[in-house]
Amino acid sequence: MAGVGNKSFSLILYFLCLGVIIPSLEAHIAEYDDYWRERELQAKENLEKAYNPNPEEVTQHFNDHVARTLMGFRTNSTRRMLKKQKGGPCGATNPIDQCWRCDRNWERNRKKLADCALGFGRGTTGGKDGPIYVVTDPTDDVLNPSSGTLRHAVIQNRPLWITFARGMIIRLKEELLMTSNKTIDGRGANVHIAYGAGITIQFAKNVIIHNIHIHNIFPSKGGKIKDGENHLGLRTRSDGDGISLFGATNVWLDHLSVYKCSDGIIDAIQGSTAITISNCHFTDHNDVMLFGASDSYSADEKMQITVAFTRFGKNLVQRMPRVRFGFVHVVNNDYRHWIMSAIGGSSHPTIISHGNRFRAPRNIAAKQVCKREYATEQEWKNWDWRSEGDLMLNGAIFTQSGDPKAAKKFGGYKMIAYKPAHMVPLLVRWSGTLECRPNKPC
Ligand SMILES: *[C@@H]1O[C@H](CO)[C@@H](O)[C@H](O)[C@H]1NC(C)=O
Ligand SMILES: *[C@@H]1O[C@H](CO)[C@@H](O)[C@H](O)[C@H]1NC(C)=O
Repeated sequence: MAGVGNKSFSLILYFLCLGVIIPSLEAHIAEYDDYWRERELQAKENLEKAYNPNPEEVTQHFNDHVARTLMGFRTNSTRRMLKKQKGGPCGATNPIDQCWRCDRNWERNRKKLADCALGFGRGTTGGKDGPIYVVTDPTDDVLNPSSGTLRHAVIQNRPLWITFARGMIIRLKEELLMTSNKTIDGRGANVHIAYGAGITIQFAKNVIIHNIHIHNIFPSKGGKIKDGENHLGLRTRSDGDGISLFGATNVWLDHLSVYKCSDGIIDAIQGSTAITISNCHFTDHNDVMLFGASDSYSADEKMQITVAFTRFGKNLVQRMPRVRFGFVHVVNNDYRHWIMSAIGGSSHPTIISHGNRFRAPRNIAAKQVCKREYATEQEWKNWDWRSEGDLMLNGAIFTQSGDPKAAKKFGGYKMIAYKPAHMVPLLVRWSGTLECRPNKPC
C-alpha cells in the first residue's frame, strides 16, 4: 500500500510540474519562472517604446542618406567606381559603412560603430556603455560557461562590447541566449558560429551583431542553459534558426554572412521591432527571413524593420522576407535570383520596396517577386505593397497593391539625378563579412 501512495505522490508532482511547463512551450521557455516573466514584461514595455508612430521619418531619413552618398561620388560610372574602390584606400560605398570604415584606427575606435545604424534599428548602441570583453576560448559549456567564452560574455548583466582574440569556430551546444546591451563584434578576427545551435535574442533589447559568419545551424534538444548572470533556465528544443529574435527590440545585424540554417536565417517574431538588417550576404537556404510567425499575433502590427544593402545570393528559395502585420522597408538590396519568390506575406503587412535590383530566375513560373498568402485578391488589394525605383531584370514582376501614394509617402525619390537601383551593385559591394586589419581602413 505504501508503494501506491508514493506512486500517486509522484504523479501529483508530475502534474504540478506539467502545469508550469505547458503554457509557455511556444516561447521555448520550459519553465516560466519570475526571471523570464520579468523579462517578458520588460519586453512588452520595450515594444511600446521602440515602436515609431511616424515610420515615414525613418524611411525618408534612410533614403536621404543614400542620396547624399551617391551624389557625393564624383563619378556616376558604376564600373569605374568599383575599380577605384577595389584598389582604393577605403571601400565604403554606402552611408552605413562610410560612418566607420575609412578610419584607419577602427580597432581603437570600435565603439564608433554604435553611431552608424540607419533605418528602424537606428539608435541601437549595443554594448557601447560598457567595457570591451575579449573572447579567447571557443568552447561552450551551457551549464557553467567559463570566463573568456562567448556564452559567458553574453549573459553578463552589464553592457559589454564583445570582441575576439583570434579567428575561431564556435560550435554552440545549445542556443546562445543573449541579454540586453551587448555588441558581438567580429572585426579583425575570422569568427564562425557553426555546426551547432544558433543565436537567440529573446525578451532583450539593444543588441548589435557585426561581422561574423553563421552557418550550418541545427536544432538543439534544449534542457538547462545558463541564460543570465545569476540564472539557469530550462528550454525546450530550439528550431535551428541562425538568429532568432523573439520579443526583441533595437537590434542591428550588419555585415553577416549566413547560410545553411535548419530553420530561418533570421526570424523576428512575437513583438520584435526597431530592427535593421544591413550589409548581409545570404546564400543556400530555403526560408530566408520570417518577420512575424502567427496570423493571430496582431501585436506584430508594431513590428518595424529595415532590410538594406543586402545581397541575396545563390540557392535562396523564398521569404526575403515573409512578413505578417508589420512595416518593412526593403531598400537597396541586390536580389541575384530566387527559386520560388522573393517577398511574401499575410495579415496585411506594409512593404515599401525602394531602389532594389530584382533579377528573376529563368523559370517562367517564378518571375513574380511577391507572394501573398491566406487572402483573396479582394483582401490583399488593400495591402500597401509598393515598389519605387526598383530595377526589374530578366522579366521580374512586382505586383503592387494598396495606396499608390504609399511609396512616395514613405521616403520616395525626390531627385532622380541618381538611380539607386542601378547603383545597387556598388551599394552592396562589401556585403557579408569584411576582413579588417589593424591600422588600415577596413
Ligand atoms: C541597458 O542599458 C541602459 C542604459 O545604460 C540601462 O538603462 C538599462 O537598464 C540596461 N538594460 C538592461 C536590461 O541591463
Ligand atoms: C553623371 O555625371 C555627369 C558629370 O559628373 C553628369 O553631367 C550627369 O548628369 C550624371 N548622370 C547621371 C545619370 O547622374
